[in-house]
Amino acid sequence: MSGQYYKNPKSILVVDDDLSMQALITDGLRAGGYFNIRKVENGLQALETFRKESCDLVISDLKMPGMGGLELLSQIKELNPSTPVIIVTGYPTIDTTVSSMKKGAIDFLAKPFTINSLLFKVDLLFKERSILTKDDLNIERTNWNLNEKIRKLSTINLIYEQIEKTQGNNDDIFQEIVMLALNVTGGEKCLLVLFDEANDKFYRKIFKIKGKHSIGKEAEGDAMVESLEGFFKEVIRKRDVQLLNSKETNSPHCSLLCAPLIIRNKIFALITVTSRNAACSFTQKDIFYMLNITARASLHLENKLLYESFFGSIMDTFESLVHSIHERDHYTERHSRHVTKLAVDTARAMNCSAHEIESLKISSLLHDIGKLATPDHVLLKPGSLTDEEYKIVKNHPATGESILGSIALFEDERKIIRHHHERWDGKGYPDRLSKDEIPFLSRILSVADSFNAMTTDRPYRKALKTDEAIYELQRNSNIQFDKNVVNAFISIVPLEQSNPC
Ligand SMILES: [Fe+2]
Repeated sequence: MSGQYYKNPKSILVVDDDLSMQALITDGLRAGGYFNIRKVENGLQALETFRKESCDLVISDLKMPGMGGLELLSQIKELNPSTPVIIVTGYPTIDTTVSSMKKGAIDFLAKPFTINSLLFKVDLLFKERSILTKDDLNIERTNWNLNEKIRKLSTINLIYEQIEKTQGNNDDIFQEIVMLALNVTGGEKCLLVLFDEANDKFYRKIFKIKGKHSIGKEAEGDAMVESLEGFFKEVIRKRDVQLLNSKETNSPHCSLLCAPLIIRNKIFALITVTSRNAACSFTQKDIFYMLNITARASLHLENKLLYESFFGSIMDTFESLVHSIHERDHYTERHSRHVTKLAVDTARAMNCSAHEIESLKISSLLHDIGKLATPDHVLLKPGSLTDEEYKIVKNHPATGESILGSIALFEDERKIIRHHHERWDGKGYPDRLSKDEIPFLSRILSVADSFNAMTTDRPYRKALKTDEAIYELQRNSNIQFDKNVVNAFISIVPLEQSNPC
């Protein structure tokens, strides 16, 4: 070994909390001619030393209190990507090796090792690096930085995309956050707890073990909530993400990362990822990702809540408008609710999407809102209408559309309402659309609306019986109504009549 015959000027930083191991490595290096050695006991001290003065090689233990070898490795690569790091451990596994290499370790040394094997790796490393020119090292550094940036950007992009595209209720969003946290950090288990600030309590919402079904694991999740309560309170107190890396080999969690979910300055949940595998000890990068997940998810949930409350109050306003028509005409409100149920059941029978059903629900409820502008002497007239009066009544779909026109949220519903009196043969109003030109959901609404009108007593005529009304619908299939819609409607009617609203 070349190092045995001269004093090598290369500087080496040895990091190990086990002082006898630290001495063994140092003595071995000295025996190989390396005397420019600094020794520290953990990652934090190593980082401090490295920041003051960099070195030519870092030899670090994996498991250490405070900051372990992998976190140190990540931090050193951030500071100087071309500094080689050799990881030493007493518990080598494939996971540990792969993780170390992925994070940029140049080599791996399994305990127990001989002085010769240590010096062989160190000598070889320096020999290889002596061949590299300054430009080679610069390229290596630039490539590393670039790859790191690309990896970070891709991960952030993935986090944003996944959260943005999550539909459904809050539980679906929580599920997505948990899966993202596990995938992005490489954690083993993830626990999402809701925080009840008034009673200072935490409630398990989701507990997931990576790659396994979580059904039947609720008790494990609850035990975890209990055992981590003190840690959770610390996170609440600090209002920030907390990382805990334990050196205890029998600790249930070797590494633990917990971040709060905050809406309008209030912590409402905590998300925790854990790992028992030393190779997966969480690092600053994982903290960065968790902060992105929680910030993005909190924003997404807040927008959703805002939308729901905004949408809810708009719906309340419109429902009260429908109610005001009811004050004038008792038929309209009851009619709107019944039509809504019939239309929604038909849409379900025709395999409409959840979004279409939601749209149809709103537009059915509000379909006659345009009658607000119909004067009493026309709306409440017990007898048949004159041509002029009928012309006024025929304005109500377009009026309904323009009432909703000021609200961008009702784009789809406006169309459905405008065309609910169009006919299959093109003789309807207001636009005389025909067949497929008529929005599909308007065709459903038209059948439900007509059926309910026919089967309801009006001042000027008696209600038809169900079978009579069905006959009328069939008779007018592909004349007034879409035949497919009529068929689907007929399939749900007996159910409706036995369970009237
Ligand atoms: Fe109508």
